[in-house]
Amino acid sequence: PTATDTALRRGAVICVHAAPRDVVPGEAGAVRILGLGSGAREHAIVAALHSERAHSIVTAPGNPGIATESEVIRLDVNNPSLVTDFAKDENFDLVVIGPEAPLVAGVADALREAGIPVFGPSKAAAEIEGSKTFAKDVMSRAGVPTGGARLAATLEEAAAAIDEFGAPYVVKADGLASGKGVMVTESREDALIHAEHWLAAGPVLVEEFLDGQEVSQFVFSDGVNVRALPPAQDFKRLLAGDEGPNTGGMGAYTPVPFLNDRFGGERAFSKLIVDQVAKPVVDEMRAAGTPFAGLLYCGLIVTTAGIRVIEFNARFGDPETQAVLERLDQPLSELLYASATGTLGHLPEELAIADNAAVTIVLASEGYPEDVQSGRTISGVPDALAEPNVKVLQAATTERDDDTLVTSGGRILNVVGTGATIAEARAFAYQGLSRIHIDGAQYRADIAELAAREQQS
Ligand code: AMP
Ligand code: GLY
Repeated sequence: PTATDTALRRGAVICVHAAPRDVVPGEAGAVRILGLGSGAREHAIVAALHSERAHSIVTAPGNPGIATESEVIRLDVNNPSLVTDFAKDENFDLVVIGPEAPLVAGVADALREAGIPVFGPSKAAAEIEGSKTFAKDVMSRAGVPTGGARLAATLEEAAAAIDEFGAPYVVKADGLASGKGVMVTESREDALIHAEHWLAAGPVLVEEFLDGQEVSQFVFSDGVNVRALPPAQDFKRLLAGDEGPNTGGMGAYTPVPFLNDRFGGERAFSKLIVDQVAKPVVDEMRAAGTPFAGLLYCGLIVTTAGIRVIEFNARFGDPETQAVLERLDQPLSELLYASATGTLGHLPEELAIADNAAVTIVLASEGYPEDVQSGRTISGVPDALAEPNVKVLQAATTERDDDTLVTSGGRILNVVGTGATIAEARAFAYQGLSRIHIDGAQYRADIAELAAREQQS
């Protein structure tokens, strides 16, 4: 039986796609991999694994783009026992968890308990993303540089902290709030309104404002050892020039040229973050009995006083991953498997990173992020794919019965360009994007524009 047959037997799944497998199971180095997730980040991960041409890959729930590179089944990926039973039945060697929801639901715990190697931290360790106070506590115990913060349980306490730190004011909900929990404002009144709103759900965090450029540094961890990918930058605001509302991310690029002058290159920067942030956090979490195995996303601000952590995520970042993986010059499967099995220390200390550049541009629906219009026809994806050095990674897409590709959410797809320089990579990406048409779709025309100039000068 195929994975889909087994899944169907379990009742909770419906086959949506079955791409042909071009694999020889049991071949040397071949791994049977179950990927969880359905976004462009997961498409990037699956595409990297597929490009190794050795593995048998199944993705749940996937999307039509992922279905061109792996078998795709529909399965409730937030159900720990369902995922574990399925993984056992189907003899997967490795499960790779993309988004945070299955982590928070304890899917990695259930798989580990069943002895199945899983890339992604336990529910307890994923608190480093889910709870900002948990993250602040770990950082304080581990001596990791971060901004000052006060936990406020009442509006009076929030007001006192707001006045202590002064403007601009930073007020955050403590738990996962789908990106809506953070407010950065010059208005004391707005800061207090935001605090009052989120206090209904529990204590809020008032933080010192950190001034500087943001950098995302991804670090693999097996609970003990760490290995760093190259740093990247993403674009959180909807509109060019960093205007408009916050989004899940409108684009990203790597390398990050300003790190060269300031830190003597990206490798030196990554090493600094490993030494000052990732390793101390991983050590501290292991000591606390909640070892972190998976991808530690260090969200940093480079201030004039040095680097500061603003957040951790317990998973690959979206959309940075879509650019970063283009520069990884060694098999991704090895890194995921080694992180899942505590053997990262067997791999060389420095990852093989290509000296190239990658830029990813997000194409979002009309009305995104507030009032997303879905069900629009997507045309031109094959034309974009025919352009040189272009990848199209799908996210909110679905296929109608007549095989038409249509939009099904806010961030529809990513177009990724790679080149020798950032300027070249972004030219390829925008050329690819120009071939795709979706009524009303929006994108930023200035992704990596400054960085390309910075790199040239
Ligand atoms: P977070 O959810 O904590 O990552 O915050 C979302 C965004 O708000 C960050 O990417 C920053 O752009 C901004 N932000 C968060 N905390 C701070 C801070 N302490 N100082 C300045 N900007 C911040
Ligand atoms: N790029 C931001 C995130 O993945 O949370």
